[in-house]
Amino acid sequence: MLALVTGASRGVGAAIAGALADTHEVLLGGRDEAALRTRAAGLRAARPFVADLTDHTATAAAVSGIDRLDVLVHSAGVATLGAVADTSAEVWRTTMETNVIAVAELTRRLLPALRAARGHVVLVNSTAGLDAHPRCGAYAASKFALRAFADALRGEEPTLRVTSVYPGRVDTDMQRSIRAQEGLDYEPENYLRPESVAAAVVSVVTATPDAHVQDVVVRAVPQRVRGTAPVRVVRHGDARG
Ligand SMILES: NC(=O)c1ccc[n+]([C@@H]2O[C@H](COP(=O)([O-])OP(=O)(O)OC[C@H]3O[C@@H](n4cnc5c(N)ncnc54)[C@H](OP(=O)(O)O)[C@@H]3O)[C@@H](O)[C@H]2O)c1
Repeated sequence: MLALVTGASRGVGAAIAGALADTHEVLLGGRDEAALRTRAAGLRAARPFVADLTDHTATAAAVSGIDRLDVLVHSAGVATLGAVADTSAEVWRTTMETNVIAVAELTRRLLPALRAARGHVVLVNSTAGLDAHPRCGAYAASKFALRAFADALRGEEPTLRVTSVYPGRVDTDMQRSIRAQEGLDYEPENYLRPESVAAAVVSVVTATPDAHVQDVVVRAVPQRVRGTAPVRVVRHGDARG
């Protein structure tokens, strides 16, 4: 079984690639070949898939030779915050190019290979793709568009499974940058771990063949809630109330 995970050099994509590597040969997508080689060396069966996904010539070259693909996970993405009043056309363009157009183009190039495997496309969206908040316009718009892309693809390709995963804040480089742009403290204890998003992705990819999980929302349980009620494990036969 072959999986390609974009954005696998860091953050959510790296965790997804690591989790899928138990059951799949994994192509690690990213731009830094040396970093990808190091990461691949730590996994059971993995190799780099090097391309700037906004460079469509590079993408076409990178996919050549892939004629069967079981799982395609789109995790690569960018986020720049800013009020509409302050967001330049360049930021809009880079955000849409990376988060939407690159996804559409990579998927299009790989459709024959995905059809051959009756494969699964997983799109790492965001809760910003469900609710757009102030200063999040370009990023949220790109994620709303990503949802539309996923829904259209699902309708057009009945042999494929297509899943949008919507995480809340995740403890990654991207979230560090977002919090810095917001001027707020970084509170990793209140965010999802990348491995938790990866577990959600694995669960949809390994769903029984009759099950097509289409949308998954994963939000963090904040630390103050996690801490209020210590978990008590009650074993069978333990009668103490
Ligand atoms: N972090 C969060 O709080 C959060 C919450 C909800 C959803 N998400 C979504 O989760 C996904 C992963 O985010 P993350 O937090 O893991 O981000 P991250 O730590 O900033 O990593 C971003 C990844 O995307 C890759 N990438 C960016 N632009 C690329 C391009 N033009 N071509 C190829 N690769 C490119 C990067 O590769 P390089 O190493 O080569 O730069 C890196 O692997 C994104 O789609 C994001 O929108 C994140």
